[in-house]
Amino acid sequence: MRTATTPYPIWAPATRKPAALAPTTPSRRATAGADGDAGFGMARSEPEGSVLEVEELCIELEIGGRQVEVVSGVSFRVGRGRTLCLVGESGCGKSVTAMAVLGLLPPRKSRIASGAILFEGIDLVRLPERPMAAIRGRRIGMVFQEPMTSLNPTMKVGEQIAEVLRLHLGMNARAARREAIRLLDRVRIPNAARRADDYPFALSGGMRQRVMIALALACSPTLLIADEPTTALDVTVQADILDLLRELQHESGMALLLITHDLGVVAETADEVAVMYAGRIVEQAPVAALFDWPEHPYTIGLLGAIPGLDSRELLTPIQGTVPQPGTMPVGCRFAPRCPFAIRQCREETPPLRPVGDGSRAACWRAPLDDA
Ligand SMILES: Nc1ncnc2c1ncn2[C@@H]1O[C@H](COP(=O)(O)OP(=O)(O)O)[C@@H](O)[C@H]1O
Ligand code: SF4
Ligand SMILES: [Mg+2]
Repeated sequence: MRTATTPYPIWAPATRKPAALAPTTPSRRATAGADGDAGFGMARSEPEGSVLEVEELCIELEIGGRQVEVVSGVSFRVGRGRTLCLVGESGCGKSVTAMAVLGLLPPRKSRIASGAILFEGIDLVRLPERPMAAIRGRRIGMVFQEPMTSLNPTMKVGEQIAEVLRLHLGMNARAARREAIRLLDRVRIPNAARRADDYPFALSGGMRQRVMIALALACSPTLLIADEPTTALDVTVQADILDLLRELQHESGMALLLITHDLGVVAETADEVAVMYAGRIVEQAPVAALFDWPEHPYTIGLLGAIPGLDSRELLTPIQGTVPQPGTMPVGCRFAPRCPFAIRQCREETPPLRPVGDGSRAACWRAPLDDA
């Protein structure tokens, strides 16, 4: 247990765990070496291998006329049938990372400065646009926050799905229409045959997101990248969509990279979690371990910043703001906001290293028990 002298009370009362959201596990210390070790190629090996491996990825964007690094040395992997949640506050580099995997970074305004993105063994960083386009949408599906930006407003939703099936899978018009209706039905759109003839604007936000999911899954991708797929939806629809994603994943065994700023979504869906802060991954852990015993002060602060069932557990958010790209502090980027910071933190970048029970943290003082 933490000693009375640790500075957690700055953010949190005695309990650091948001009981309403945390997956139930026995004491984390007692589960070492068991399921809690899944993921990230540490204690438990991934039996079916990785679908996606991102290695030391550094991405620069042109901001204000100069190249600025917005993603710094990010590594993670997603195994077949597994869900990795990439979580962090707005602006920490989650979407840019996803766009890099999809080969959709803004042309001429961005650069993958170093690193590798291996999808089923193919290095996407070095892949020319033509083969990349063939992978995108067929072997890697994508769902974004706002389906209206991805759907064609002038085309009936059934036709949009059928077009993908014709283009990517060579189906004839009749078979594609039949399959499009089956997919709409599969994503729980009532009266799918009739709805197929609706234009996107005639559907609610939740229904449009289901159409996006049907489109993304049309070609049975092995990886689905979902960037804040439920953020624009109300809570009930959000729960239903997450449930749908889980069910579809369970059926198909696809890997899911789910990007969110919402720890409630993480608790609901993740197998493994990577916490991003200011362009870096600061903690990686199996979901139960992360909620049960977060190791990085930023993760502890994030968990403390969401309310538990009991409003008395509503904690003070992390003080300060996320540093902007191009103005990153030397050493640990969280140091200006961290109550544990020591001199070393402001001088040297902490590496992401094992801190026990399948977790890794980029913190000089982790595990804090020993600090
Ligand atoms: N097209 C772009 N041009 C310039 N800056 C961008 C662009 N896209 C993202 N950024 C900047 O890159 C950083 C990471 O952004 P992003 O990946 O969208 O964050 P997140 O998805 O975690 O909220 C932010 O500082 C953002 O302002
Ligand atoms: S390395 Fe230092 S500043 Fe960074 S999170 Fe750890 S204790 Fe805080
Ligand atoms: Mg984003």
